[in-house]
Amino acid sequence: MQVKSLIQNPKPKCPLANTWAMPTLRPFQMADMDQIMFQVAHMFDQVNPPDFYFLLHKHWPEGFLVLEDGGRILGFVLGNLVSAEKARILIMGVVDGERGKGYGSLILDEFLIRCRTMGKKVLALEVRMSNVKAQKFYLDRGYETTGMQKQFYQDGEDAYLMEREI
Ligand SMILES: CC(C)(COP(=O)(O)OP(=O)(O)OC[C@H]1O[C@@H](n2cnc3c(N)ncnc32)[C@H](O)[C@@H]1OP(=O)(O)O)[C@@H](O)C(=O)NCCC(=O)NCCS
Repeated sequence: MQVKSLIQNPKPKCPLANTWAMPTLRPFQMADMDQIMFQVAHMFDQVNPPDFYFLLHKHWPEGFLVLEDGGRILGFVLGNLVSAEKARILIMGVVDGERGKGYGSLILDEFLIRCRTMGKKVLALEVRMSNVKAQKFYLDRGYETTGMQKQFYQDGEDAYLMEREI
């Protein structure tokens, strides 16, 4: 049965359908800190002190998810609670070499489900104006551009604000 399904679908888009590799999506743990800091610095050229992650995690542990495969972090999402109705994604990423395999969708879907379970109605995020790939990723998943933030990033780049009802 398993073999049959692998032959029919040798490269499943959904990572959880892949029976020979089973990454786990789980809450952040303190032992993840070094890998997260390294990946954020690498992906976004941005260095946040450990306290940044520590305090956000303390405030909302469910809003910090890590996709791990045998100790290696493949992706993550870190959010915060904006209001009774709204949650926000602060940072989300999938590591280089692992993109385009469905991991980002998996992480985003799970984060959204957790927000919905908490009774949130809107999920918001900011994305760099130059990050066209990420904009498309979110647009394809039901997010709309609802505004912009001038000089949102440390280097002065503007951001689009994107939101989706959940
Ligand atoms: C945006 C991001 C999280 C998507 O993760 P992912 O694991 O590649 O996502 P998926 O495999 O589920 O979906 C890939 C989709 O995103 C698009 N995509 C966006 N960036 C991509 C990239 N660098 N490589 C491959 N696909 C990318 C693909 O076209 C694909 O589109 P589809 O809907 O037609 O399948 C990931 O590319 C990433 O970490 N980018 C760098 C960090 C970043 O920009 N984060 C978001 C900041 S707001």
